[in-house]
Amino acid sequence: MALDRREFLVRTGCVLAAAAVGTGCGRERADGHATVATTPAGDPEWEAVREQFALSDDYIHMSALYVASHPQPVREAIERYRRELDANPVVYLNANNRRLVGESLAAAARYLGVDGDRDIAITDSTTMGIGLVYNGLRLEPGDEVLTTEHDYYATHEALRLASERKGVRVRHAVLFEDSRSVSEDQLVDRLMESVGPRTRVMALTWVHSSTGLKIPVGRIGEALRRVNDGRAEDERILLGLDAVHGFGVEDVTVPELGCDFFMAGCHKWLFGPRGTGIVWGSPAGWRRCLATVPSFLDDGTHEAWLAGDEVSGRTDGARMSPGGFKPFEHQWALAEAFRFCEDIGRARIAERTHALARQLKEGLAAMPHVRLHTPMQASLSSGIVCFEVQGMGPWETVDRLREKHIVATVTPYATRYVRLAPSIRNTAGEVDTVLAEIHALG
Ligand SMILES: Cc1ncc(COP(=O)(O)O)c(C=O)c1O
Repeated sequence: MALDRREFLVRTGCVLAAAAVGTGCGRERADGHATVATTPAGDPEWEAVREQFALSDDYIHMSALYVASHPQPVREAIERYRRELDANPVVYLNANNRRLVGESLAAAARYLGVDGDRDIAITDSTTMGIGLVYNGLRLEPGDEVLTTEHDYYATHEALRLASERKGVRVRHAVLFEDSRSVSEDQLVDRLMESVGPRTRVMALTWVHSSTGLKIPVGRIGEALRRVNDGRAEDERILLGLDAVHGFGVEDVTVPELGCDFFMAGCHKWLFGPRGTGIVWGSPAGWRRCLATVPSFLDDGTHEAWLAGDEVSGRTDGARMSPGGFKPFEHQWALAEAFRFCEDIGRARIAERTHALARQLKEGLAAMPHVRLHTPMQASLSSGIVCFEVQGMGPWETVDRLREKHIVATVTPYATRYVRLAPSIRNTAGEVDTVLAEIHALG
C-alpha cells in the first residue's frame, strides 16, 4: 500500500509524538518541508517506512549496499519530472534545471552538515567521483598516495590510472590480518606508520565492502592534522574517502569526519535515484584539484569561453560537476531522497540499521558452522555483515539463500565472503528467517 507524504509522516510517528509530548514535530523547516521528530522505534513506524518501497514481498532484500529501490517520494518525483521533460524537453529544462539541481545540492549540503553547497559536485556514482578526484589532483612524479589493501577496486583502479598518468607512487598499507580482532588504535597506528615524507594523499574507504569494517575516520583525520601542521600547504596530506557505505546509514556529518573529499553514490543506502552521486571537497582539497570533464553548471568557465577570456576562480563543486546532458529527472529527484531520510530521522536510521545488523551478527556468531568477519562493535561496523559457511563456497551459499528467496551477495574482492546488508527496509522477523536458513545450511 502506498502512503502519501502526510500519512507517511503520521505513520512514522510524527503526529503522534507531537500530540503526546509536544515536540517540535511537524514544524516547517526553512525549506518549507515538515520535520519528523525522533520517536521510539516501534514496528508500526518501520512498517510505514517499508511501505514506501515497491520491493517484491516474496523476497527478503538484504541488499541495500548494492543498488537502491526508490522509495515512493523519489519514484514520484522522477515520474513527475520525466513527464514534464517528455512533454516539452527544451522549455522545461531551460526553465528549471538550475533551480532543481540547486535544490538537490542544497539538500545534500544540509544532509552532509556543511555550510552551503559551493563545495559539492554532483556526479553519477561513487566511482565517478573517485576517478575525477584522484586523477584531478595536482601531484608530482614521485609523490605518494597511500591507500590500503582492503579498499575497493574503484579506489585501486583510479589510483593505478593516476600513477600511470602522473608518475605518482601508490602504496597499499595492511591494516589488519584478521578483521574480527581489529581495534581503532591498530587501524590509526598502522595507517600513520605508513605515512612517508612524500605522502600527499590518503585514499580510504569508510565502511569496507570486503568485511563490513568501519574505520575511525574522525581519529584518522585528527592524526593527519597533527602531521600536516608541520608541512607546507602543498605538501599536506589530503584525506579522500569512499563514503558510500556509511552515507545514509551513519549519523555523522562531514565536519565530524574531517576528510578532504567525501565521495559517495546516492543510489545505495541513501535510496536516492539510481545514477546519482556527490563529492564534497574541502577548500584545501579543491585548491589542489582540477576538473577533467567540462562543467555545465559552472558559469565561470562557460562565461569565460563565451567572452574568450582566461578562466578564473578556484575549483569548486560546480566546476567539478561533470557536464553534458544527464538523466535530469534523476538528478532533480535527489532532493527527495535526502528529505525522505531526514523525515525518518538520521539518528533513527543509524540506530535501526545497527540494531538489525547486530541481531544478524549475534545470530551468526553463535553458529558453529559460520565464521563471521565483521566486527561486533558499532564503532567498527555499520550495516554490512560478511561471513562464510564452513565447507561451502560463497557463491553456493548465496545460491542456496536465493533459492529461499533471500537476496545476499558475494564480496567482489580476491578473498570472497557472503554479504548481507540489513537496512530500514527490513524487519527483525526477516533477520530471524535469514538466520534460520543459514542455520539450516550447517
Ligand atoms: C566500497 C565501494 N565503493 C564504490 C562502489 C561502487 O559504487 P558506485 O556504484 O556508486 O560507483 C562499491 C560497490 O558497488 C563499493 O563497495
